[in-house]
Amino acid sequence: MTTTSTTVPFLDLRALHAELQDELDAAALGVLRSERVLLGPELERFESAWAQAVGAGSAVGVGSGLDALVLALRALDVGPGDEVVVPAHTFVATWLAVLHVGATPVPVDASPETGTWDVDAVAAAIGPRTRVLLPVHLYGQPVELDPLLRLAERHGLAVLDDAAQAHGARYGDRPVGGLTTLTAWSFYPGKNLGALGDGGAVTTSDPALDRRLRSLRNYGSAEKYVHTEVGWNSRLDELQAAFLSVKLARLDEHNARRARVADRYAAELAGTGLLLPATAAGTTPVWHLYVVRTPARDALREHLAAHGVETGIHYPVPCHHQAAFADSPLGRLALPGAEQLSREVLSLPMGPHLSDADQDRVIAAIKEFRP
Ligand SMILES: Cc1ncc(COP(=O)(O)O)c(C=O)c1O
Repeated sequence: MTTTSTTVPFLDLRALHAELQDELDAAALGVLRSERVLLGPELERFESAWAQAVGAGSAVGVGSGLDALVLALRALDVGPGDEVVVPAHTFVATWLAVLHVGATPVPVDASPETGTWDVDAVAAAIGPRTRVLLPVHLYGQPVELDPLLRLAERHGLAVLDDAAQAHGARYGDRPVGGLTTLTAWSFYPGKNLGALGDGGAVTTSDPALDRRLRSLRNYGSAEKYVHTEVGWNSRLDELQAAFLSVKLARLDEHNARRARVADRYAAELAGTGLLLPATAAGTTPVWHLYVVRTPARDALREHLAAHGVETGIHYPVPCHHQAAFADSPLGRLALPGAEQLSREVLSLPMGPHLSDADQDRVIAAIKEFRP
């Protein structure tokens, strides 16, 4: 589908919904006409399909990606006095989840070359209070999990991976989502698998953690009016589950379309002086974002805007410089890798509905840019 706007959209959600309109309409009507709007058959259907898609024992649908991380940490009994190793360069929700359970995030800086954390730096961040390693498959690029899993095993730690941007990504020949103790997902509308509102899930192959998560998302209750712990109200509702089932059936195809866009960028932008995204050997990314780097980021962004090309910055302010942490020791950290990334990263238009003609406009505008 081609867009009729004169702007090249950063992500064309309208085109996605237009493509799926009939099925989304039917899904909505089905819920409207059913008796159940929460914890019903649509949720069960989606949870079992999602668990199967990612090779996990089960999936527990929750209210958002942030909730998925919070409930996963609670299910691991992480709390005050505990430390969780997180990347310095991530969306702030990764850090917020740790703070919401009363634990301390211990950020590992990003390597200025690769933009990711390296395992030696993670190992150096582990101390006597560390309970969990929390890698993030940022931009849809899978983190190399095996070295982390070995490290975690040596130190008796859990691995909770944040896969909010990595639906369908693969590590070796296995999908992300069934490889660690727990995996947290977001179904925020702009994600590769997005609802039409907020939503999230946790996948695991540990039946005890699955039971705990189901209780935690439902007021700490497995049986009506019996509350065995202090839980939350965070449930993926029937309407969102029904929409997600429609979109899940297209996830592989849409990810393949994203990969095609990424391949064209890689071929056309080589030699333009931009640092293009790198993929770890043996991993299959899902191109949630196509992020290039340049010290002239702000000028390039302005130039592209003047040519009608929308771009994004993920993320313009590193977590530790957020005002929310100004009064905390986190706000006084020096994390030069993350700081440099926040100045240099630029996300180009990306998505299954980016037309060749629109992508040509992006590429041509970049080639014209003189810093
Ligand atoms: C890496 C990462 N973690 C966590 C989240 C939080 O997800 P949500 O927006 O569904 O709360 C997001 C998305 O927004 C994300 O990109």
